[in-house]
Amino acid sequence: YRRLRVALLGAGAVGSQVADLLLRHGDELADRAGASLELAGIAVRDVDAPRDVELPKELFTTDAESLIVGSDIVIELMGGIEPARGNLLLALNSGADVVTANKALLATHGTELFEAADQVGASVYYEAAAAGAIPIIRPLRDSLAGDRVVRIMGIVNGTTNYILDRMDSEGADFADVLADAQRLGYAEADPTADVEGHDAAQKAAILASLAFHTTVPLDAVHCEGITGITASMIDEARAAGFVIKLLAVCERITVDGAESISVRVYPALVARSHPLASVHGANNAVFVEAEAAGSLMFYGAGAGGVQTASAVLGDVVSAARRHIAGGVGVGESTRANLPIVPIGHVITRY
Ligand code: HSE
Repeated sequence: YRRLRVALLGAGAVGSQVADLLLRHGDELADRAGASLELAGIAVRDVDAPRDVELPKELFTTDAESLIVGSDIVIELMGGIEPARGNLLLALNSGADVVTANKALLATHGTELFEAADQVGASVYYEAAAAGAIPIIRPLRDSLAGDRVVRIMGIVNGTTNYILDRMDSEGADFADVLADAQRLGYAEADPTADVEGHDAAQKAAILASLAFHTTVPLDAVHCEGITGITASMIDEARAAGFVIKLLAVCERITVDGAESISVRVYPALVARSHPLASVHGANNAVFVEAEAAGSLMFYGAGAGGVQTASAVLGDVVSAARRHIAGGVGVGESTRANLPIVPIGHVITRY
């Protein structure tokens, strides 16, 4: 097989699992990719920081730029805007295809990255950026490209689903369950992003952009978190046959005869009979309604290191296949611009 040089940026909960799986399953992945995937190095801030899995010390470096230049595939799992953005632009401009799980970066600088990729004929893969292990990026971008998606309702943040679920099933206290979600590795480094809905809003912007073939900027997403949800609200919802879920709702709407979209994240009442009501723990689910296909539900682990690593490695195989085929970019930047209507909090029952 032709050897492809793979650079990994970041070795946190997801990154360390990606490195481990790449090293352990290298032969199998090479057969699937048609190329041997050689982990050239892992760029981190602190070489000696504790990791979730043991990895060969000699792979670690603090010099991300030297690692990137000359690589064929760059996997970015550092999170945050900088230096992730600069590193990915460097990777694209050096001829690499990139794989990232960085929802914050994609939701704020996605267009810049996609355009940079188009200019050099490279691709940006980001299946792991929304809903963890669940395949949802490719279904929206590719499998449903011949249909018209009319609405997405998603539970796209594992931490808040875990918290709401335990508050509902055991009457658990918010602060205690948040601490558990952090211990289990579901929460972001700063869990404010989870509980205030910002993480879900980033994913909503990404999913809505794909579903409606448009560009949804993060600041167009109405966002409310779950910090105001009390035990008595959960009890009242239960008594009425509902469960409270933090939903990302992305839908086509018609305003004054013009086609528009609305994208919002907020705690909504979901009927206990709705498929989304039975999404427990840190699982995620994305319920998609399309004109021809009807209703589809994508369900699975929305957070967690090894689960999310599955989606990252799927992207690495795709990137490798494309790279050796000398393919062109996936054309992310050719998008329509639909008007986005700001809908605030609506008490919606699904
Ligand atoms: N903190 C995120 C969550 C991780 O809880 O869903 C996955 O993006």
